[in-house]
Amino acid sequence: MTVIGGKLITTDDVDSAVRAFMRTTPPQQRWDVEFSFDWSTADADRLTVGERSAVEFVTIIEDHLPGYFAMYDRYFPVDGSVDLPTFAHNRELYHFSVRWAQEEDTHARVLEQYQIASGMAQPQQLRTALAVEGQKLFDLPYEHAVQFFTYPLVQEKATQIYYQHLRQAVGDPLLRDILTRLSRDEARHFSFFADVVQKYLQRYGDAMADPIRDVIAEFRMPLADTIRGYWRWALRIADVARYDHTEAYEYLIKVINRAVDAKSDKVTELVAFVEACRTLSVR
Ligand SMILES: [Fe+2]
Ligand SMILES: [Fe+2]
Repeated sequence: MTVIGGKLITTDDVDSAVRAFMRTTPPQQRWDVEFSFDWSTADADRLTVGERSAVEFVTIIEDHLPGYFAMYDRYFPVDGSVDLPTFAHNRELYHFSVRWAQEEDTHARVLEQYQIASGMAQPQQLRTALAVEGQKLFDLPYEHAVQFFTYPLVQEKATQIYYQHLRQAVGDPLLRDILTRLSRDEARHFSFFADVVQKYLQRYGDAMADPIRDVIAEFRMPLADTIRGYWRWALRIADVARYDHTEAYEYLIKVINRAVDAKSDKVTELVAFVEACRTLSVR
């Protein structure tokens, strides 16, 4: 059984972050694949080749949900392999992760449904293609708990930005509606991870600087190492919507600045490092 290292925030901290997250969607604002869209209007003929490709690309990323969810279960187990206080912490976190997983699974389903309803793909071929990528293991072998929140903080914000760019490009109103809902959800997911990382910084300050720095130093978007032809594909769709995690770095910097009032040398260095990674990769 994997044992996660590094400090944990308190169970109360997790509980308050989870409660804040749950309050971000009142029941009347929730949506789903079956009832929120008029699928008869889906029309891929209104999309360019690049836009279709961008939809296919992100369908694979979203469809990998079982892999992402399993990873949190692996590192924050909710069973007898951990002591009681850790279990209590992980149990609170699970309230978030199971809701988050449900929402991400809806993202995967809505994109698959769009591909089918719009005429982009045949159900069986799509299912098979997704299974090929979905089977591959996704793992972030981090040592510190805070890193499991820093990574998705960046990734959720990058995905939100991607959906916003793609929404501005596409000609099918139904797809625009879908992308609006997706980007809103990713913004809410980002806010949870930002909240948690902030709590880590507030509680442990300098001790968090190196673990956070390591996440940024080694950052790869999910599946960058497993999707066949990832980089070629990413380049091909770059004109439509760039899937670029460095766009999210300024939001991480904001989180750090908000969390720490009087910055130590170590935290100042961390901010400078993240800033440098951001500017280095500006094209
Ligand atoms: Fe998503
Ligand atoms: Fe998300």
